[in-house]
Amino acid sequence: MQYRNFGKLDFKVSALGFGAMRLPTQENENSESIDEAEAIKMIRHAIDQGVNYVDTAYGYHQGNSEILVGKALQDGYRDKVKLATKSPVWLINKPEDFERLLEEQLAKLQTDHIDFYLLHALSRDRWRNTILKQDVLKHAEAAKQAGKIRHIGFSFHDDEEAFFEIIDGYDKWEFCQIQYNYLDINEQAGMKGLKHAASKGLGVVVMEPLLGGRLANPPQDIMEILDENGIKRSPSSWALQWLWDQPEVSVVLSGMSNLQQVEDNLVSANQSGVGLFNAEDQKVIERVRTRYSERAAIPCTGCSYCMPCPNNVNIPRNFELYNGSVIHDDVEGSRNTYNNFFDEQNRASSCIGCRICEEKCPQKIVISDWMPKVHSALK
Ligand SMILES: NC(=O)c1ccc[n+]([C@@H]2O[C@H](COP(=O)([O-])OP(=O)(O)OC[C@H]3O[C@@H](n4cnc5c(N)ncnc54)[C@H](OP(=O)(O)O)[C@@H]3O)[C@@H](O)[C@H]2O)c1
Repeated sequence: MQYRNFGKLDFKVSALGFGAMRLPTQENENSESIDEAEAIKMIRHAIDQGVNYVDTAYGYHQGNSEILVGKALQDGYRDKVKLATKSPVWLINKPEDFERLLEEQLAKLQTDHIDFYLLHALSRDRWRNTILKQDVLKHAEAAKQAGKIRHIGFSFHDDEEAFFEIIDGYDKWEFCQIQYNYLDINEQAGMKGLKHAASKGLGVVVMEPLLGGRLANPPQDIMEILDENGIKRSPSSWALQWLWDQPEVSVVLSGMSNLQQVEDNLVSANQSGVGLFNAEDQKVIERVRTRYSERAAIPCTGCSYCMPCPNNVNIPRNFELYNGSVIHDDVEGSRNTYNNFFDEQNRASSCIGCRICEEKCPQKIVISDWMPKVHSALK
């Protein structure tokens, strides 16, 4: 295993971390029903091969991921890893909630401390209206003082501006977790966010390095580019090596869902390092990126000049979901997000065709004509 710096902390983290969000489940069962024996085997195998960072959260697998991780880390495994989990900050409504949730997590994880405790999935709204208003950081500091958590960080899902607001809004962050992969250099925190966090001495944990699996199974035309100059690398390895080449990245989490994926990613991690991705490799990734963008149906750049919509439609997000379905040949993935993780008032179906947005769009997209098409493709 290769080990890397973790911001300013005196801790060498394994290049690969284990994300416990996509554990194998019993056949034909719901996602809460984890295949316990297989999941424990996978986690312990990864640790035996040098992985020393395991990431879970209160909500993964409907609350069962923490219980499973707690079991996997018995028999001496707890001492071999740094354990990360996340506070479900959306459940914090009164001062005692933070401590109550943390105690519940410690019990489920069968441990007396969490090494890396993250405020889960911060966005601009959550930062302003929950973390600051409910004084959550004061509770986190008290828990640190009491030895129940060792390091305070956050995971993030929003845009670059929100990332800077959060990271510059508290001077005791020790690490953060961002969605980052070769297609997301200008999405979410993006490459600028990564560099900013690292420049402040934070450890940066990367999640969704394979875009939730999409980069592991790319469409045929993308595969052809990856294979073009005869370099023997799987699509997953291309995506992971691109990340490990960057010194600002501390650890790359992958949510592996079977033992074969664990094996593959361990092999990649063993061959990883800063500076190992050469100029030819970078060119391949640039060509892949260009090809992906050519697959997009709507030429939206996500600049948000069209916003705000008077009827609350989140125009760039609707276009991103639609383009994502075409780019990755994955309509089901986009439909799932559209219907289950996107407020109804923000969906394309709320468009009333007023066309105010169209005057502001630098790409001259006929937004009101696209909205019914987006809705009927994703509903
Ligand atoms: N804090 C947050 O808000 C948040 C959000 C997302 C993730 N996370 C954390 O970050 C971790 C990583 O994110 P992620 O799970 O989205 O990671 P990811 O690596 O982008 O996606 C994982 C999926 O990629 C596929 N995969 C992984 N390795 C592969 C391989 N060698 N060959 C083929 N396919 C492979 C699998 O898909 P299939 O199952 O389809 O085969 C797997 O389920 C999560 O597990 C979780 O711990 C946190």
